Amino acid sequence: MSELIEVLTKDGSYSLRSVFFQENFHSILGAFEETKSKFIDTSNLERFKGKSLNVLDICFGLGYNSASLINELIKQKSYLNLYALEIDKKPLEYSLRNESFLKLWAPKVKTIFKSLYRKDYFEDQFFKCNLLWGDARKKITIIPSSIKFDLIYLDGFSPQKCPQVWTIEFLSKVSEKLNSQGYLITYSSSAAVRKTLRNLGLEIFTIKPSFNNKTFWSQGTVAISKFDKNKLKPNFNFEKLSLMEEEHLLTKASIPYRDQDLNSSKDHIIKKRLDEQLLSNLLSTNKWREKWGMTKLSLKS
Ligand SMILES: C[S@@+](CC[C@H](N)C(=O)[O-])C[C@H]1O[C@@H](n2cnc3c(N)ncnc32)[C@H](O)[C@@H]1O
Repeated sequence: MSELIEVLTKDGSYSLRSVFFQENFHSILGAFEETKSKFIDTSNLERFKGKSLNVLDICFGLGYNSASLINELIKQKSYLNLYALEIDKKPLEYSLRNESFLKLWAPKVKTIFKSLYRKDYFEDQFFKCNLLWGDARKKITIIPSSIKFDLIYLDGFSPQKCPQVWTIEFLSKVSEKLNSQGYLITYSSSAAVRKTLRNLGLEIFTIKPSFNNKTFWSQGTVAISKFDKNKLKPNFNFEKLSLMEEEHLLTKASIPYRDQDLNSSKDHIIKKRLDEQLLSNLLSTNKWREKWGMTKLSLKS
């Protein structure tokens, strides 16, 4: 499963490409930039200054999201209880060999990552970390049900390439683990993922783009179970969905990925969804694209 190719992204940070999934681990614009602008800046970590928090990192990969989180929490003296899920040890093996990756963070990140690689575990006064190796669909069930997470980072390959981690059934397990004020954060702005999270009872928000144009209208999604919308501050990294994004959820693109017993293959999940889309009376996604000027023709002009 794990033939991996090194990728140097445009901000100078290293990432990988998976031959099996035919997708890069990060945006070509920057792996470091991506973790910062999508996951860390959205987490409002100041809330946990001097306090403790529980975090779940789904699809740990090279560990950019956990590394930048730990790096910030060291500075503000927070206490972290981290769980991470990952199917493949090779990306972490790569991180531990890559000096320029390790140089991005405080030396403690390397100590923690080494321990996670060798023992799947790390603990000291401030940090308690567990890495559960295997299919996230199975491993998530091992996490004690008493633990509710303040932050959940969901960073799988895209729904079309790895639908297993974006289905109703998996996202339902994930959202059960979210604290009432906790944030589930993902880079995905897929209508299927957003609609599923909303149908699971979560409030959804869009991560503001760093620059706005017709192709980069969002940097992802935040889902929260009980959020007082009046508390939304202009300096938050996320906001309510725009009319365009709301209308996206009325199209066939919003038809969910399904995996009833949490063991279906990628092809089975994709085919089931295509069949459901063919029978659906929902608005065509192309019509939505035309209305909002996102067809290839309109984008050229
Ligand atoms: C987009 S990359 C993750 C990027 C990551 N956050 C980082 O900093 O490198 C997706 C990761 O999901 C892992 N993965 C794919 N399918 C999985 C599954 N069913 N369960 C757990 N991990 C999975 C891949 O091995 C890969 O490392």
